[in-house]
Amino acid sequence: MVDFSSLAQKYGSPLYVYDFDVITQKFTVLKEAFKARKSLICFAAKANSNLSVLKHIAKLGAGCDCVSIGEVKRALHVGIPKYKIIFSGVGKRDDEIEEALKNDILMINLESEEEMGRVEMIAQKLGVIARISIRVNPNIDAKTHPYISTGLHENKFGVDIDSAKRMYIHAKNSTSLDPVGIHFHIGSQITEVEPFREAALVLANLVRNLKSLKIDIKFFDVGGGVGIQYKDETTIPLYDYAQAIFSALSGLDVTLVCEPGRYLVGDCGYFLTRVLYEKNNGFKRFVIVDGAMNDLIRPSLYGAYHEIEVYGKENAQETSLADVVGPICESGDFFAKNIELPSLEHDDLLVVKSAGAYGFTMSSNYNSRSRVAEVALEEGEDRLIRQRESFEDLIALERKYL
Ligand code: LLP
Repeated sequence: MVDFSSLAQKYGSPLYVYDFDVITQKFTVLKEAFKARKSLICFAAKANSNLSVLKHIAKLGAGCDCVSIGEVKRALHVGIPKYKIIFSGVGKRDDEIEEALKNDILMINLESEEEMGRVEMIAQKLGVIARISIRVNPNIDAKTHPYISTGLHENKFGVDIDSAKRMYIHAKNSTSLDPVGIHFHIGSQITEVEPFREAALVLANLVRNLKSLKIDIKFFDVGGGVGIQYKDETTIPLYDYAQAIFSALSGLDVTLVCEPGRYLVGDCGYFLTRVLYEKNNGFKRFVIVDGAMNDLIRPSLYGAYHEIEVYGKENAQETSLADVVGPICESGDFFAKNIELPSLEHDDLLVVKSAGAYGFTMSSNYNSRSRVAEVALEEGEDRLIRQRESFEDLIALERKYL
């Protein structure tokens, strides 16, 4: 067990802590599952884009899946080779497309015919050939939370198969586009293999179809989406996941690309927060902590469950139901509802688990709260990887008022 108490004392609270050895372990298992084929693991930077996390992932040999030019620049900044960087996202601006093309990254994942038109025009203007991939929406239910389900026609992502085919034919005939990849991403926190298998089969058939049109797809990108265990979910054995994709790809000579976010960094992260007060209004027990929804919004936004332990009181016998809430002026500001907790005192430390993905990256300065510090653990050592914001940081970009 990590000595969270010393970490909170040393770096203050609230605090994010990431165990880099867990990331290494997760990466190794995934790479091993894919070893029968050429593969490229592109970490979805949106899950955790701290430079030190990206650097650690770069050292493991992974690339990066980016959804803004900011993420592309972060990836380049830590030395991820340009040929391992993918630029995805449903709405890329012209300036973002231009910069991605100038940086000669591996490929741009297109999400509409309109976007292809812009990329073609900008590539032509720059005198370059844009390597592109098309995100196909296979209309498959990933059976996850509606907010993080992306593979149905009711979702805004990608294009249907017929449009994709049209786009590939157009791209093949264009002097400024090179259609090198195909892509799907059907959702996040998926806990069954079946939706992946179905999507891979649909897209692999399209690849075969394109081959007969002399369009040779080199990169088969299966997106991210592999879930982790927050509570009692079953998780997908990665061997089965890989095999399902491999069997769909049989006979095709493609490099498998995968864009895991949560799988790689979810379990490595802990959010530490201290108890400020206990309050009981006669109806309900509230534990008020110093962290809030601006630091970790997943419970508020998705009703997501994160296990919470009280450091040093994990085995307490006497417990009662409580809501764990933050100081923000919103009823939605909570980390947990109706969980069993021992009686708590000022400064007791709560450890919110599985907080490494979509924790800090979704944080904000709401209520003029400074973003918290981030700490890495690696081979028994801890180090600060982002310092806590100060009041000066909070107001740094605002102009002097008159
Ligand atoms: N690739 C694409 C194109 C994506 O849109 C995403 C996530 C990923 C890869 C990585 O997915 P993952 O392996 O992490 O499931 N904020 C939400 C999750 C949003 C996911 C958005 N896209 C949450 O906290 O649950």
